[in-house]
Amino acid sequence: MTYHTIIIGAGAAGLFCAAQIGRNGKKVFLFDHAKKIGAKILISGGGRCNFTNLDAGANNYLSANPHFMKSALKRYTPWDFISLMAEYGLTYTEKKLGQLFCDQGSKAIVSMLEQECKKSGVDVQTDTSLDTLVYDATSKIYTLNLSAGETISAPNIVVATGGLSIPKMGATGLAYQIAKQFQIPVTDTAAALVPFTFEAEDLTFMKNLTGLSIDALVTFNKTAFRENILFTHRGISGPAILQISSYWTEGQPISINLIPEYNRDTAFLMLKEARQNRPKIQVSTLLSELLPNRFAKAFTARYLDNAPLTTLSNQALSRIATTLTNWQVHPTGTEGYRTAEVTKGGIDTDALSSKTMESNTQKGLYFIGECVDVTGWLGGYNFQWAWASAMACATAIKCE
Ligand code: FDA
Repeated sequence: MTYHTIIIGAGAAGLFCAAQIGRNGKKVFLFDHAKKIGAKILISGGGRCNFTNLDAGANNYLSANPHFMKSALKRYTPWDFISLMAEYGLTYTEKKLGQLFCDQGSKAIVSMLEQECKKSGVDVQTDTSLDTLVYDATSKIYTLNLSAGETISAPNIVVATGGLSIPKMGATGLAYQIAKQFQIPVTDTAAALVPFTFEAEDLTFMKNLTGLSIDALVTFNKTAFRENILFTHRGISGPAILQISSYWTEGQPISINLIPEYNRDTAFLMLKEARQNRPKIQVSTLLSELLPNRFAKAFTARYLDNAPLTTLSNQALSRIATTLTNWQVHPTGTEGYRTAEVTKGGIDTDALSSKTMESNTQKGLYFIGECVDVTGWLGGYNFQWAWASAMACATAIKCE
């Protein structure tokens, strides 16, 4: 069979791209090795799909080229996706920080994308893997041999196979292999939006607090996120930790301000005031007014002197202020691709057109979504990149 475009990967980017190209009457074939389409959409946002973020802009993404995503994001905004949802009667709720969740759930988003593909006449085939991909430079046609024994060809190939996170759900490095086959560079990849793991005494301390969450300001180098941190039986997780994990360098500590309404200086003043007004109060009792009781007790026992404030010198209070506002933790690693929400790094953006997502050197070969070296923050930014990069690619291809 000969198609106008073949898309590999029926996830967020692939489904959306296929429907857009097919709208113009172009013949599109979309295949996926998984049994179900849109698997990650289905589990996203706790089943409610945080499908976009109203604030999505270049500042919310990591990439070797911080400008690469600007054009696509500008041309396809969160409001465009909201309009599409409205055509299907789908509504949304903003939970916090511009994060929009689908009221009808993740299934409704997948169903909408599936119907869009149907309307556009896209041939969708699941349970199908790629055996070989060959390019004929004379005819400028790609020929694909698929696992079912079929041979299909097209002048345009869109690679939308995502990153390496959650291999159990079918994540593979196919995009990077295809890039390698065509001498397209790939930047180093790593698990991102992922919990930190700890060892020895740190782990024992955190394990004993499993399930407890605290509003905190988490900083690495000059990047900071204020949201909850969550203690787990492996270490620490929670939105602020997932966010900072994308910026973290192995072997380095991260800083946690456990009382983010204060900085070191104001915390010191607060402690001095408490010593003056309530001299007999003990450190752990005072901390339990600022932090969950269980945490205040465990933290004081591990790091501080649980004495009545009146017995503590200015120097001792200053040390407490520093420990509370700049708690230095030393992750030994992350939970890796097993639980990471996304993969950092990927197809080198220098090798792609930011307008079309086409390879600069290999005509007709496009990369979209998470496989590209564009990684969003937690909070709907990754889906917005999937939609926007898919639209940039589709707009270019359907105009051919
Ligand atoms: P995606 O991973 O969606 O799709 C890739 C497709 O390619 C898959 O269907 C896969 O089966 C297929 N494929 C892979 N290898 C293949 C091969 N060798 N042959 C054929 N097919 C192959 N983001 C967000 O913005 N809001 C959210 O709420 C969440 N929540 C969330 C929860 C969890 C648990 C995870 C793991 C991730 C999220 N994300 C998220 C991230 C988001 O899911 C992710 O960024 C997008 O799905 C990326 O879309 P893509 O289409 O690029 O890849």
